[in-house]
Amino acid sequence: MAAALKDRLTPFERLGGAVVLERIVERFYDLMERDRAYAELRAMHAADLAPMRRSLAGFLTAWSGGPRNWFVENPGKCMMSVHGGLPIDAQTAGQWSAAMQRAIADVAPGDRETAELFAGRLDQIARAMARIG
Ligand code: HEM
Repeated sequence: MAAALKDRLTPFERLGGAVVLERIVERFYDLMERDRAYAELRAMHAADLAPMRRSLAGFLTAWSGGPRNWFVENPGKCMMSVHGGLPIDAQTAGQWSAAMQRAIADVAPGDRETAELFAGRLDQIARAMARIG
């Protein structure tokens, strides 16, 4: 993609829009449900992950510059505060980040540079959450 055109696009658009973000989120929770490497992370979540699949896809869509429905439906909700009451430690933050890095790599958005930036930012946020609980 030409650099000038790419500069005008949001990360949401560069990644491939809602379809790609939904695929990443589905893969993320499938990994969390199926792979014992994320057992402690899975145990922190409710039995039914369907609401989380919807909420995380909506959040990532809004946060990356796409339709802002999640922000409108959750006025003033801060991601760090949502997690502030959870007992997140280095292990569960590392599991969250590892599953997300793997989900992004598996879905493999065409714009690899943006995918790496996106994965790197989520890693930083997840690791910061381990220090606020
Ligand atoms: C650091 C490791 C993390 C852990 C252990 C963790 C765990 C959790 C848990 C247990 C919930 C409540 C789910 C439930 O009720 O079943 C939750 C909610 C949520 N988390 Fe995380 N999380 C982490 C990192 C992140 C990150 C980095 C993001 C996005 C930047 C994120 C986005 C969300 C969203 C959007 C919700 C739903 C909020 C809502 O709908 O009210 N989480 N998280």
